[in-house]
Amino acid sequence: MRLDYFVAHATGLTRSQVRDLIRRGAVRVDGQPRVRANLKLSGETVYLDDAPLTLPGHQYLMLHKPAGVVCSTDDPGHRTVLDLIPAALRRDLHSAGRLDLDTTGLVLLTSDGQWSHRITSPNSHCPKRYRVDTARPLTAEALAQLAAGVVLRDDPTPTRPAVVTPLNDTRLSLTISEGRYHQVKRMLAAVGNHVVALHREAIGAVELDAELPEGHWRALGRSEIDAFR
Ligand code: URA
Repeated sequence: MRLDYFVAHATGLTRSQVRDLIRRGAVRVDGQPRVRANLKLSGETVYLDDAPLTLPGHQYLMLHKPAGVVCSTDDPGHRTVLDLIPAALRRDLHSAGRLDLDTTGLVLLTSDGQWSHRITSPNSHCPKRYRVDTARPLTAEALAQLAAGVVLRDDPTPTRPAVVTPLNDTRLSLTISEGRYHQVKRMLAAVGNHVVALHREAIGAVELDAELPEGHWRALGRSEIDAFR
């Protein structure tokens, strides 16, 4: 999110009033000696006259998760998704569903528990689309099995039907509407293959913003928030 949008949203001031404050040096951003109104925020805390700013109401954000970051609020051994968000926005924030440490891509973060429940509840069957790279070429039979449903190790209930699109010999697009533990990796293991890279591209109608570099976040727009109402 741009600095001037953020400050306007947090304070209720107009964008021109905010730009005036920025020009006068009243707005400070962590680690930035000088700030411009169009500065793209990506994890810093913003201060107005030395007070940290927060956005009003619930927060709804998308994050492009890099590998090596955990989807929990606290972890002694790794950076967490919250470490990538400005401190002033972190209150009550949690991720709506998790990605593994080595998985990259779309994570939705919110302070609204009802909203995240609609994404994560097993009964809502919210679709999640992944780009999957595999160790070995994908056979037509394996693709058909993944689409129809496979039995995972230590779990007798077959997976729900999935949307499977091969992208090349060792890459597929896979849309699943469940969230079992390590589901994609276990599905590929069930057809005798192995995931070497996993990236989440979409949750429901919300696509990872192609303009958002790894490690960066932005606020969701109204239609993205309403996609889960
Ligand atoms: N399935 C997995 O195996 N890992 C993820 O991170 C997400 C889905």
